[in-house]
Amino acid sequence: HTMFAARRALSGAIQQRAFSASARDLSKVTVLGAAGGIGQPLSLLLKLNPRVTDLALYDIRLAPGVAADISHINTKSLVTGYEAGEKGLDAALQDAEIVLIPAGVPRKPGMTRDDLFNTNASIVRDLAKAAAKSAPNAKILVISNPVNSTVPIVAEIFKKAGVYNPKRLFGVTTLDVVRASRFVSEIKKTDPVDENIVVVGGHSGVTIVPLFSQSAHQDLVGEPALLKRVQFGGDEVVAAKDGAGSATLSMAMAGARFAESLLKAAQGEKGVIEPTFIDSPLYKDQGVDFFASKVELGPDGVAQIYDVGKIDAKEQELLDACLADLKKNIEKGVKFVAENP
Ligand code: NAD
Ligand code: LMR
Repeated sequence: HTMFAARRALSGAIQQRAFSASARDLSKVTVLGAAGGIGQPLSLLLKLNPRVTDLALYDIRLAPGVAADISHINTKSLVTGYEAGEKGLDAALQDAEIVLIPAGVPRKPGMTRDDLFNTNASIVRDLAKAAAKSAPNAKILVISNPVNSTVPIVAEIFKKAGVYNPKRLFGVTTLDVVRASRFVSEIKKTDPVDENIVVVGGHSGVTIVPLFSQSAHQDLVGEPALLKRVQFGGDEVVAAKDGAGSATLSMAMAGARFAESLLKAAQGEKGVIEPTFIDSPLYKDQGVDFFASKVELGPDGVAQIYDVGKIDAKEQELLDACLADLKKNIEKGVKFVAENP
């Protein structure tokens, strides 16, 4: 606390005056995995966001370097890079309002997201332990794959630490919405900014369920090539990068957009709605404890969860397939923490 306060005091009288004393207006955002393919452009976009007042960058390598570079950008926020290790991690997390987690390995061609589980589960578990200790009230935004399993891992760790609040844990599925909206605009020759396709379920293959019936383009329901692009858009990028990783730049944009939505909602804006993968009551009766659907965001995180609403029969089939897969992915995450606490 004191280090954070001291740094803030040093950051200049003009800046001090520009911000009100209200804690709401002081928004520290922390990126864990900040030197990676996603982490670097994500940190850059967060530095450009005037709602962010403190930007804390942590990685097991290069975070101080990335922070030094980004800190020269002439926006108000204070950027700090932390050394690898427990001390740096705890300091990066202290007082954070939002913690974004893009730490972990990306796919190579031929891999599914689930193939990343063995490596990324323990990375996310360990970062979640640190967050439960040093930022128990932060909103946690999980980007690391497989999201369908890493989000339940964070939930289990927070439960064990006695600090779990389901309103503050989010799997970031914004990229699916971004892609669906872009792909539709390519077909319909519309402005992609005006498209906002609802995507529900999870974040991998058949668990990704776009609801074109709820858009202005009913005729796109059941269009096989479009559905495949939305469900396997990640694979397009993995193939094109040919062994050098997966989506990083579009993901950085999507992560920055979701963080911005949470900051807007925290600062009092109403009607901020984003699909996101959360601890959800919608399909708990079917044994599916986490589900992405439209969520209204508020100052405390999740304000209201929307059910999927009226959907086409073809979409219902997709949803049934989604739920079957999702259940297994979620159970895998929960089992991992039980067996590897
Ligand atoms: P990357 O390898 O380029 O970067 C990952 C970074 O994490 C590296 O800098 C690495 O040093 C760091 N890291 C590893 N272990 C760490 C730890 N214990 N603490 C802190 N940092 C650690 O990978 P990338 O392309 O940035 O992808 C990161 C993850 O995001 C992957 O799992 C990928 O599958 C996932 N991803 C998710 C989405 C989504 O829509 N949710 C989209 C794209 C990628
Ligand atoms: C994506 O959707 O691009 C990410 O989940 C990365 C991947 O592995 O496809």
